[in-house]
Amino acid sequence: MRAKREQLVEYKYFKHKTISESSLLRVYCAGKLRFLRIGVNRMRREGHWMNRRSFLRSTLAAIAASTTGAVARRSAYAALESSFADHEALPAFPENFLFGASTSSVQIEGAAREDGKGESIWDRYASIPGKIADGSTPDIACDSYHRWPDDISLLKQMNLQSYRFSLSWPRVFPQGKGTPNQKGLDHYSRLIDALLAVNIRPLITSYHWDLPQPLEDAGGWPNRDTAGYFADYVGLLARTYGDRVHHWGLMNEPQAFTVVGYGWGTHAPGRADRTLMLRACHTANLAQGLGFRAIKAQNSKLQIGTTYDYDLGRPRTDSEADRAAWERYDAFRNLWFIDPVFTGRYPDAFVDGVPFDAMNFKPGDETTMKVPLDYSGVNFYCGYEYFAVGQKQKLLRGLNAHAETPANKFDYEAVQEVMLWFSKCYQRPIEITECGYNDERDAPGPDGKIHDPMRIEYLHGALTGLRKALLAGANVRSFHVWSLLDNWEWSSGYVPRMGLTYVDYKKKQARILKESGKWYGRVASSREIPNLHEA
Ligand code: FCB
Repeated sequence: MRAKREQLVEYKYFKHKTISESSLLRVYCAGKLRFLRIGVNRMRREGHWMNRRSFLRSTLAAIAASTTGAVARRSAYAALESSFADHEALPAFPENFLFGASTSSVQIEGAAREDGKGESIWDRYASIPGKIADGSTPDIACDSYHRWPDDISLLKQMNLQSYRFSLSWPRVFPQGKGTPNQKGLDHYSRLIDALLAVNIRPLITSYHWDLPQPLEDAGGWPNRDTAGYFADYVGLLARTYGDRVHHWGLMNEPQAFTVVGYGWGTHAPGRADRTLMLRACHTANLAQGLGFRAIKAQNSKLQIGTTYDYDLGRPRTDSEADRAAWERYDAFRNLWFIDPVFTGRYPDAFVDGVPFDAMNFKPGDETTMKVPLDYSGVNFYCGYEYFAVGQKQKLLRGLNAHAETPANKFDYEAVQEVMLWFSKCYQRPIEITECGYNDERDAPGPDGKIHDPMRIEYLHGALTGLRKALLAGANVRSFHVWSLLDNWEWSSGYVPRMGLTYVDYKKKQARILKESGKWYGRVASSREIPNLHEA
C-alpha cells in the first residue's frame, strides 16, 4: 500500500501519467457523455451560498426565460443534449476566439546564469541531488532565451493567435527587488515586439513559480513581505510593457507553488510544513490583491487575471462522509485562491474552521485580498475522485479529505462544468491557459515525423467539450495548448513530452513540429474541429 504522502504527490502528477493511457481516452472520446454532471457542491454568489445544482438549474431557467441571445443559447444547449455524439454538427468557433499555445520561463528559457539573471528557487532546488527525476536542471531547457525567433515561427506555422508565456522574476530583478536588470527587460521587449509584428497576442504570466532565491532566503512565500515585492515587480512589468501587452496573468496555479512547494515539498523550494504552506497561501492571496492594484495603477485598462487549475471532481461514493470530504476539498482546491480575491473571505475547507492564526491573517487582509479580476485563467487536464480520510492526513490536517485520479477516467464533463460555473458565478470571461497531453514516448518515426495520434485524440476531445460549453453559454475567449514545446517539466525533468513540437535535446534543442501540431494548426485556421479520422 502506498504511503499517504506518495498518494498526495500523485494527486499532482498522476494526471500527466494516466492521461497517456489509451483506454482512458477512449472512455471519454467514444462515449456519449451527459452534458452536465451537476454536483451538490456549494458555491458563493453575491454573498449567498448556493448549491451548484440549484445554481445551474436557475441559470439555465433564466437563460430560457429571456428573449434575446440567451434563448438561442438555451436551444443550442437543448440541441446539444440530443446530438451530443455528433461532433461534426458543431459550428465553427467564433471569429474572435483565440487559439494559442503556452509555455513558462523556467521550462523553456535556459540561459539560467546569462545576461544578469539571478538564481531562482528552481535553479537551487534542481541543484540538490535526488530532487529531479532525471537529475537534470533547467540550465538549458529549450534554449528559448536564444531560440525565441524559432518559437515564434512555430506559432506562426500553426496559425496561432495567442502566445501565453511567463516572465522570469529573477531575470527582471536578480535580487527579487531593488535594481532591475535592463538586459532581462530588453529581452522580453524584443520578444513582445516580435509577437505583435506577426499579430500574435502576448498573454503574459508574471509569475510561473520561479521566485528569486534571495526572496526565498528571506522567508519566501510564507513571508508576508513577498506580497509587496511581487506588487513592485508586476508594477514594473506594467510600466515597461503595458503600452503593448494588454492581457496579464498575475500568477499560475497558486495552489501548486504554495501547497506543493511548501506543503508537500515536492516542488521548489521543497519545504514540507503545514504552517509554512498555510502562510504561503495567504501571502499569495495578498499578492493577488496588491499585484492587481499595482498594475491597474499603471494603466486601468489592462486586463488582469490569475490562472487557477480547477478540478470539480466527484465524490468517490455517495456516502455522506465522501460528499462532505469532496466539499471540503473543493473549497481548498478550487476556491482557496478565488473566493478571497472575489469576496475577501476564505471558504469552509477545514473541519475546525479557517486556520487564521496559522495563516498569519491580520485585520484588513480581507480588504487587501479582494479585487475584481477581469478574467480567470483556467488550466485543466483531468478530474479526481474525493473521499474522506481520518486525522492521520498530516499535511492537509483538518481537511480530512483526499483526492486521487481515477485510473480510467478523464473528467471531461467536469471541464465543461468548470467553464459554465465560473462564467456564470463570477461573471468574468475565461482564458484557457493550459490543456495538454503527455507522452514520453514521442520520438521521430522512420519518416522523420512525430506521430502522436493520442495527443490529437485528446485535443479533439477537449476542444469538442469546450465548443459545447461555449454553445451552452460559457464565456471562454481562448484556448492554449500546453505546451508549444516539449520542455523541462519541473521535478519530472525532461522525461515528459507535452509539446506540440518535439525538442531534440541531443541536437542543440532542434525543434520538429509534431503531427498534433499540424492538426492543431488546421483547427486554428479553419476554426473547426476536423473529423478525427482526417487527422
Ligand atoms: C501545469 C503547470 C505547467 C506544466 C503543466 C504540465 O500544472 O502550470 O507549468 O507543468 O502542468
